[in-house]
Amino acid sequence: TKDLIAEAKNVLRLNDRGAYTVPTHGLYPFQWNWDSALSALGFVHFDEARAWTEIDTLMSHQWPCGMVPHIIFHEHDDGYFPGPDVWQTARPVATSGITQPPVSGYAVARLMDMARDKSLAEERARALLPSIHAWHKWFYRTRDPRGEGLVAIIHPWESGRDNSIDWDAPFAAVPTDGVEPYTRRDTMHANPDHRPTKEQYDRYIWLVQHFRSLKWDTEVLHDASPFRVVDPGFNAILIRSCAAVAELAAALGEGEIAKESRAMAAKGTAALDQLWSDTRGQYLCYDRAKEEFIDSPSIGGLLTVFAPIPEGRAQAIADRLNQIGKTAEFLVPSHDPVAPEFDGARYWRGPVWLIMNTMISDGLAQAGQHVMSQRLMDDSLRLIEKSGFAEYYDPITAEPCGGGHFTWTAAMVIDILY
Ligand code: DGY
Repeated sequence: TKDLIAEAKNVLRLNDRGAYTVPTHGLYPFQWNWDSALSALGFVHFDEARAWTEIDTLMSHQWPCGMVPHIIFHEHDDGYFPGPDVWQTARPVATSGITQPPVSGYAVARLMDMARDKSLAEERARALLPSIHAWHKWFYRTRDPRGEGLVAIIHPWESGRDNSIDWDAPFAAVPTDGVEPYTRRDTMHANPDHRPTKEQYDRYIWLVQHFRSLKWDTEVLHDASPFRVVDPGFNAILIRSCAAVAELAAALGEGEIAKESRAMAAKGTAALDQLWSDTRGQYLCYDRAKEEFIDSPSIGGLLTVFAPIPEGRAQAIADRLNQIGKTAEFLVPSHDPVAPEFDGARYWRGPVWLIMNTMISDGLAQAGQHVMSQRLMDDSLRLIEKSGFAEYYDPITAEPCGGGHFTWTAAMVIDILY
């Protein structure tokens, strides 16, 4: 255990660029939004000030509209595509123009709970609350324009689950004509069999060019995007962060933020239930552009337990995980291994990710599902012992996939073991 903690700290140090961490050298040479927020949960166990700085740096690149971009290009690096020249968002420090799962509210509440230095924590949390709250309000304003209580993503990269099988059907509505010639860089750093396909990249880039042609006006992009999908896992993260901000704001005497956050969390939680599928025994994504459910048994519909869903639903998700555990040696695969499209090594089409395991485990524990919650932690540590601090792992063979020396994987190990 001691050795694993020491190794994990080394990974964090290796990727520390002073005021932010890169997910891993080479493949991802900038700051990524939810990577940073979750990485702070590793730092907090041995350097509280550094943990707060990680989230401060992220939030200081928030756009005036409230959006927090998914990549911040702090330093020039040719080893990544698409870089600032493709995004062209005209920000003082270059950023991408889309967002990512808003896990910062949850992370800040965790940092506060774990703080030994309470006065530092109160000061940093109080300073961060208004901007995180503005981000949450931006989501419900621009991504739920009809006030249904569920927000949509407009690009698969926003989900964090870039090439999930969930996006195959809605992605068919995204054209590829007019995509400017480009050279991928990711496949020079990682095994191409572990990465998205060229067909997917063409569509990723088409969407970026489309949003760019609309001048990155986030008030219009939702309705203008041919890709508009409601992801239950993404919504669960937003709801959990709103609930966390509500509690924290109440404790800090910020009544208005507390009240608004509580209302957003309550409305979101109630709306989530529309995404439940009795047939699948889990939640499903919804294609808002086509107005139909996406019948795809992915981890997005299991991560939903991260939100305060009803006990019966949490029980059903624990049962579902038990069932998946009969074919997956290591839980939680990002897609059900019995599905024909499952691919155990290809990014989000099958592999296990430690950040998913810790969020699902946390949600299960909150709902009283302690046995399954513990199994996810045990499986996570077995993977690390066998295969090191990889980006993701094959759920059947434990093969380490994608990038190595991965920041948030290491952060999760520290958080589990401390
Ligand atoms: C990538 O480049 O693969 C990232 O996941 C996009 O954010």
